[in-house]
Amino acid sequence: MSELAALEQSISAAIAEAADEAALEAVRVAALGKKGSVSALLATLGKLSPEERKVQGPLINGLKERVTEALTARRQALRDAALDKRLATETIDVTLPLPESPLERGRIHPISQVIDELTAIFADMGFEIAEGPDIETDDNNFTKLNFPVAHPARDMHDTFFFPPKEDGSRLLLRTHTSPVQVRTMLSKAPPIRVVCPGRTYRSDSDQTHTPMFHQVEGLVIDKGSHLGHLKWILAEFCKAFFEVDQVKMRFRPSFFPFTEPSMEVDIQCRRDKGEVRFGEGEDWLEILGCGMVHPNVLRNCGIDPDEYQGFAWGMGIDRIAMLKYGMPDLRAFFEADVRWLDHYGFRPLDFPTLAGGLSG
Ligand code: DAH
Repeated sequence: MSELAALEQSISAAIAEAADEAALEAVRVAALGKKGSVSALLATLGKLSPEERKVQGPLINGLKERVTEALTARRQALRDAALDKRLATETIDVTLPLPESPLERGRIHPISQVIDELTAIFADMGFEIAEGPDIETDDNNFTKLNFPVAHPARDMHDTFFFPPKEDGSRLLLRTHTSPVQVRTMLSKAPPIRVVCPGRTYRSDSDQTHTPMFHQVEGLVIDKGSHLGHLKWILAEFCKAFFEVDQVKMRFRPSFFPFTEPSMEVDIQCRRDKGEVRFGEGEDWLEILGCGMVHPNVLRNCGIDPDEYQGFAWGMGIDRIAMLKYGMPDLRAFFEADVRWLDHYGFRPLDFPTLAGGLSG
């Protein structure tokens, strides 16, 4: 066998044996690379006599062409085999359920849900939504609401104060949503019908208190607004919110500097193995504070108490959310635990409406 034929045989064998593309590339480099065996033969052509070159040239070039073709064919064969293997192993079971889309996987926090629910209820009764900033002035949070400066009632709120300014005034994190009443009365003329949901802050933390919590405030100012209206509004709200046909409410005398008279409201319920059911039972549960807006507050906000009167109420949103959806620990609301949210959260597209059902 000629030298050339022997070389061709050994290269062909190496090509046939190459098990993957990397091995095949090594064979290619060994034959056709700069220092490859076939390249070395081609380099000898230059030194041959013209006659010899005529004979050797076509032989060596023919070898190079056949090697190139064999490499190409083997590469294709290896690729096809690799694809066949993938196709055989990577099967898709089309009967498996579809993974949930991000839209379906996301959850609405119970607080957002409850705020949406109560806005739907009060909007249906003709209330507007009013909002105010979380950082308030001492004046709006206390003084205009008839908490005299240095009055002990201020101590009932464990207030987060900012450092005093040069003029001695202090900003604070609002301790209730009642300053939104002040802002509303200062900015618009009666008749007023607003509800103000929002964040509130007090330095307090246990199973039913967190330093940041939520309240919803209600305010109605008109010429003849009275406690009968307030009772009706609260009863209708409770029935709609707790989704029951009947609620029994109890109004107890209480004290708030900004209302006179002031009351706290309990609703009747049954406590059963940690669960609370409304519209039945013999227990009472406090849910809000309310009263007739104090004439001093009206006066402080530029409204003539001889012409206008009104009522207000304030309710803990977290509290009624816990009650309605049976969530035992308030602190879990703000721990951002995805497992908790998966369990207690709401589907984003189930927006609460009175017509469509509040909690779906
Ligand atoms: N601001 C009160 C609180 O946080 C709640 C409250 C009571 C609001 C009576 C009112 C009201 O508007 O009339 O404890």
